[in-house]
Amino acid sequence: MAVILGIESSCDETSAAICIDGEIKSNIIASQAIHANYGGVVPELASRAHQQHIIPTVDQAVQHAKIHKNDINAVAFTRGPGLLGSLLVGTSFAKSFALARQIPLMEVNHMQAHILAHFIEDPKPAFPFLCLTVSGGHTQIVLVKDYFEMELLGQTLDDAAGEAFDKTAKILNLPYPGGPLIDKYAKEGNANAFKLPEPQISDLNFSFSGLKTAILYMVQGEEKKNPNFLSERMADVCASVQSRIVSILLNKVKKAAKETGVKQVAIAGGVSANSGLRQALLDMGTRYGWEVFIPKFEYCTDNAAMIAIAGYQKYLKSDFVGQDVAPLARMHV
Ligand code: KG4
Ligand code: ZN
Repeated sequence: MAVILGIESSCDETSAAICIDGEIKSNIIASQAIHANYGGVVPELASRAHQQHIIPTVDQAVQHAKIHKNDINAVAFTRGPGLLGSLLVGTSFAKSFALARQIPLMEVNHMQAHILAHFIEDPKPAFPFLCLTVSGGHTQIVLVKDYFEMELLGQTLDDAAGEAFDKTAKILNLPYPGGPLIDKYAKEGNANAFKLPEPQISDLNFSFSGLKTAILYMVQGEEKKNPNFLSERMADVCASVQSRIVSILLNKVKKAAKETGVKQVAIAGGVSANSGLRQALLDMGTRYGWEVFIPKFEYCTDNAAMIAIAGYQKYLKSDFVGQDVAPLARMHV
């Protein structure tokens, strides 16, 4: 029996999960509310909060899975990409745990894990499939050929899609993380209320910095005419912004599907929790005859279940690392 403990600590969630023979038995996530006061994640505070949360989070994951710590026979952890100080906490914990118990250690790439979250539950995609991975730090279109064989087809040239949501939220005086709030307001608004530009980039890469500037100028201009603009039109602004971010993302997915001929399309990462993106992808799938894969909400944002499931695939191949492994702030898919 393979009982795997997964550990995630790349950004501002401390998470631990237990996977038994490829099935997730628990997935505990401790979020860090402290960053809301600062409009973004403060790396030093994140690292300290991980230190406080890691042991209780692992204890809870073990309890929820109804196992004993002694039953765990391998540990998987996020090696990167992410904030170095945050990664260090999970990495050090995982290494110590493996060393003390003399069990194997598996390193996991966080961006690959977001994609491999699709293997937690049915229906699972078959290889090859396309995945749009959209998070607070990354925006990528990936051709997934096998569990750990992935080709990057396109990525952002500046801000990530999650950053576009979070930076817009800052302009709109909404707290961090802004994505979920923009999503909420957008449900009540008119997506055609404000016209926002779509960047003209010919390949499969993305750009969001022009959009951010356009939103800033639009809001400043409207506030000059009406100081209550934001409170009166918040829903319409959010709906217009969300609709533009979604169309930027999905127009590139459409292009990638056309160029590769691949008809299985998945989304992953924190922004894949966005209801506008989920619905638009479903609609596009119906229109173009794609099979669409959308993760459950709990597996969209950062979680250790995806680390444990990726670790399980490595365990099957005996793809282990030694105690000399170190976290990496930058890693490619
Ligand atoms: O994958 P994730 O949890 O962490 C990173 O690895 O970055 O992604 C976090 C990002 C944040 O930018 C957050 O605003 C965004 O995902 N996000 C959303 C939604 N839920 C989370 N963006 C849009 N709509 C949402 N519902
Ligand atoms: Zn992530």
